[in-house]
Amino acid sequence: PAVSAGQRFTKHSAIIAHRGASGYAPEHTLASFRSAIDSGADYLEIDLQLTKDGHIIAMHDDTVNRTTNAKGKIAEMTLDQVKQLDAGSWFNKHYPMYAREEFAKQQVPSLQDIFAAFGKKTNYILEIKDTKFNPGIEEKLLAVIRQFRLEDYVIIQSFDSKSLKKIHRVNDRIVLLQLMWYNTPARISDASLRKIKKYAQGISPNFPKINAAYVHKVQKSGLRIYPYTVNYQLNMDRALNWGVDGIYTDYPDRFREVLQKN
Ligand code: G3P
Ligand code: CA
Repeated sequence: PAVSAGQRFTKHSAIIAHRGASGYAPEHTLASFRSAIDSGADYLEIDLQLTKDGHIIAMHDDTVNRTTNAKGKIAEMTLDQVKQLDAGSWFNKHYPMYAREEFAKQQVPSLQDIFAAFGKKTNYILEIKDTKFNPGIEEKLLAVIRQFRLEDYVIIQSFDSKSLKKIHRVNDRIVLLQLMWYNTPARISDASLRKIKKYAQGISPNFPKINAAYVHKVQKSGLRIYPYTVNYQLNMDRALNWGVDGIYTDYPDRFREVLQKN
């Protein structure tokens, strides 16, 4: 939990709160990040997008349609416009069992809002999304990290290896994770592992397509492995038995329970 903040890698298998504790609170809001920290998450996983006026905000999609009360492309909205939106009522409607009145007041936070709120209390895994909608996000992201002096508290991840390499050209101290997506049972060649190892410290594949052999092959190459998104304790147990370095989950408390029992 919070004691590991700033240590980059945890001693135990890491609890990565996927979009915050997004099973219990509207994803990518300060409420979901606070809930994740309270339940012992080691890292907040945050997807990043650029507004029209060049601010980095926390959002998964490239439109505000799914997670706010409005419609529109983020790239066509200013930060001020995005901040007017209600980022929580959709959650209350979809998940009445976890609905809370105060969620309706949640805004879309900028990365600066998040760092200002939680600073060095936690660690962050920051995801650079579709670079075609977010030109130049790498330099801007590094500038915000520098502004808050959080270089040792962040890991940057992306599906786009070009974007990750660009980060390292500016600052090679930042820890990087290569995201992977498999449609069929996952396999990875020695050549691919060698290539990834040149710039990244680990890989994050989708959990349902991997197995123990895959995990061990990745780790034997010297890379760490963090499968996503694991929400059931049965699967958390399996992943832990394979020896994964951490998992992404919408329910950080569930993985903490699994770790405590082991
Ligand atoms: O961060 C791992 C995982 O989040 C990648 O998928 O779509 O949830 O950003 P997505
Ligand atoms: Ca993500």
